[in-house]
Amino acid sequence: MRLAILGGSFNPVHIGHLFLADAVLSAFGYDRIILVPAFQSPFKQGATGGSPQDRLDMLAASIPGDPRLGIDNCEIKREGVSYTIDTIADITRRYRPTGKPGLILGDDLSKDFPKWKSADEITAQADIIIVRRLLSGDGDYPYPNSQLKNEVMEVSSALVRERISEGKNWRCLVPPGARTIIEDRRLYGLQEAGSAITQALIVEMEEAARRVLNSARFHHSRNTALLASDLCRHFGLDPKAGYLAGISHDMGKPLDEDELLRLSKADGEGISKLEQKKPNLLHGRAGAVLLKEHYGIRNQDVLDAVKYHTTGNAAMGLLAKVLYIADKIEISREGVDPALRDFSACGGTEQDLDRLFGTVLNETVAWLRSREMDISEGTLRLLDLIEKRGLR
Ligand SMILES: [Fe+2]
Ligand SMILES: [Fe+2]
Repeated sequence: MRLAILGGSFNPVHIGHLFLADAVLSAFGYDRIILVPAFQSPFKQGATGGSPQDRLDMLAASIPGDPRLGIDNCEIKREGVSYTIDTIADITRRYRPTGKPGLILGDDLSKDFPKWKSADEITAQADIIIVRRLLSGDGDYPYPNSQLKNEVMEVSSALVRERISEGKNWRCLVPPGARTIIEDRRLYGLQEAGSAITQALIVEMEEAARRVLNSARFHHSRNTALLASDLCRHFGLDPKAGYLAGISHDMGKPLDEDELLRLSKADGEGISKLEQKKPNLLHGRAGAVLLKEHYGIRNQDVLDAVKYHTTGNAAMGLLAKVLYIADKIEISREGVDPALRDFSACGGTEQDLDRLFGTVLNETVAWLRSREMDISEGTLRLLDLIEKRGLR
């Protein structure tokens, strides 16, 4: 197998690294590139943020399913200052590549390459591949090398770190997996309100929803997630809880009737006559059980919101009301009064949320009645409660 080595701090890995690896693979016919994060690069001492474990985790999360890329933690394990000659010797000994391994060097570093420890030995043990990192054009290097005239992507780890710490946009500069880790571990001085819900869980549930729901249902779920997250922000709730509830709320939809009944029975609340007749009404209840048992969601507010989103229930909490509203009026739902979506005009108190919820519930019930459809007992009890509180 023909291998090339791409070392660096990967603090954090960014799309420029992957774009470069891709370019080398296709230009020189290597079978695999081994990404080697430095424990501490001699040229970048003092770089802050991103422990060795964080950097390894971000790399691993950035290359799922790509057999052309490997990660080797030999420099991190050796600790101390990383010398390239040691890495080449170690990798050659363990991987036994066909021919010499390639060593990818950016043209920003290659000028000083003759000063590196055992530079002559490196050129004897590896094929030096000089790639463009700067827009400086071609260079003249006093040692054997191949040069790749790759397009330069003007992104660096330093730029990503700087943009994160300064609150500027950065998310599309790193692969999605690395982005999730930066968000969940608050790396590089990321300023954001904390949440008990991790971005990793949200991404996992969104991928699951895309897999199991049909395209229209998935887009409805994503629009529901966006609106639920916006509503949470407006009413002072956790936007991540809103997003998670929204993206997961219809996961019970693809279940068949037997499965809907079986899962719903697990919540111990019995099955009503209407639910027996129309098991599809159980997709919220069954979905909540599925989310807990199969997907490991433990947040009770999210589970309750999903459970009650279909018919509503007198036991609904704030997040459940948000999800109910979002599900019924998200942007792809037809026949919704657009004024309802303009919630920015209403206040941000619990009473304001109750009022909006009451309006949406009434519109939904009116729509069901206009089509002479059955209304569940839970919905009727809820209407009654709202009537008594005078929120209609
Ligand atoms: Fe639903
Ligand atoms: Fe829905």
